[in-house]
Amino acid sequence: MRIDIISVVPGLLEGPFSHSILKRAEEKGLATVRVHNLRDYAGGKQKQVDDYAFGGGAGMVMMIEPIAKCIEALKSEREYDEVIYMTPDGKKFDQQMANELSLKENFIILCGHYKGVDERVRLKWITKEISIGDYVLSGGELAAAVVTDAIIRLIPGVLNDESSALTDSFQDGLLAPPVYTRPADYEGMKVPEILMSGHQAKIDTWRFEASVRRTKERRPDLLEGKEI
Ligand code: 6GU
Repeated sequence: MRIDIISVVPGLLEGPFSHSILKRAEEKGLATVRVHNLRDYAGGKQKQVDDYAFGGGAGMVMMIEPIAKCIEALKSEREYDEVIYMTPDGKKFDQQMANELSLKENFIILCGHYKGVDERVRLKWITKEISIGDYVLSGGELAAAVVTDAIIRLIPGVLNDESSALTDSFQDGLLAPPVYTRPADYEGMKVPEILMSGHQAKIDTWRFEASVRRTKERRPDLLEGKEI
């Protein structure tokens, strides 16, 4: 998998991709993430990437030409499955979308800024628009990092068994059960007996029931239309 991220503040994305799971995925050759500075594709001495909105009003609009140059340069090198635009008015990101995207090969993620991109960018190149929730960030970069992390950790081989994605909250539509590690007794707070019993079938049942209970309490919306 290869993800090309286009940004006006590429520095915001350096941290997330040089650590932990994403770094390991790169080292294992399972995923490549490249961040492109949109300003490198801007013309003139000013390297301008945004301009005033036609019709007036506060806020700048990201110009079409630098984005065109960047996207076309990338597309001349390989085929892309999706060109994603990160924007608060996109479709809300969830685990199902992460699962679907993790099956794709290559995509471009364009991070929105200011008042957003010239509408013609969306019409000409964008195949999917994603928001990570109903709140406004100052740019799409942090959202792109969230989406990229959620996708890459699903690629087979990226996680080891101890952190298997199959037992995540949401992967089976339920929240994950409580977990414990040593000590078995912390100042009188004891780990449930069953987890130390060695009866795997009983442990699995306990975990499933704890998952259902937790989901009922915290996220009853996840159980709607479900038989449990
Ligand atoms: Cl994708 N971008 C911005 N700027 N704000 C957001 C978002 C994206 N998703 C939620 N809020």
